[in-house]
Amino acid sequence: MNKETEKIDLPKVEDERGNLTFVENSQIPFSIKRVYWVYDVPGGQERGGHAFKEQKELIVSLSGSFDVVINAGSEESRFHLNRSYYGLYIPNLIWRYMENFSTNAVALVLASTLYSADDYVRDYDEFEAIAS
Ligand code: TYD
Repeated sequence: MNKETEKIDLPKVEDERGNLTFVENSQIPFSIKRVYWVYDVPGGQERGGHAFKEQKELIVSLSGSFDVVINAGSEESRFHLNRSYYGLYIPNLIWRYMENFSTNAVALVLASTLYSADDYVRDYDEFEAIAS
């Protein structure tokens, strides 16, 4: 279960005063240990070209839009994130990067681990060796 990248719909509480979305551990396939966000990305820049050995994550576009490109080994898939009421779940050992950030895009990442530089796989050949 949950070995695949998948879009996860989040609750959207619509209100004429403004909408509200939330996420709890029970809605996603991991417990949240860390939250970070990427923003002020200049046009044409790419972020996050690597895999994680352990980290599972949910990526949400809180504002604006961007693409998440993932590589599960054999083929690439591109997910366009442009709404704050769903997220893209990415298991560990998936090569992923983000690009095509719009002006004012904010990429929220809910992560299953604390930050550890050792958890990063930044070399694609090493990734293929580990993931195969
Ligand atoms: P990194 O994840 O490498 O960003 P990208 O993959 O988009 O290049 O993070 C950039 C820098 O920020 C890196 O030096 C590590 C640091 N960082 C932390 O200290 N804590 C964190 O939780 C994250 C995500 C990054």
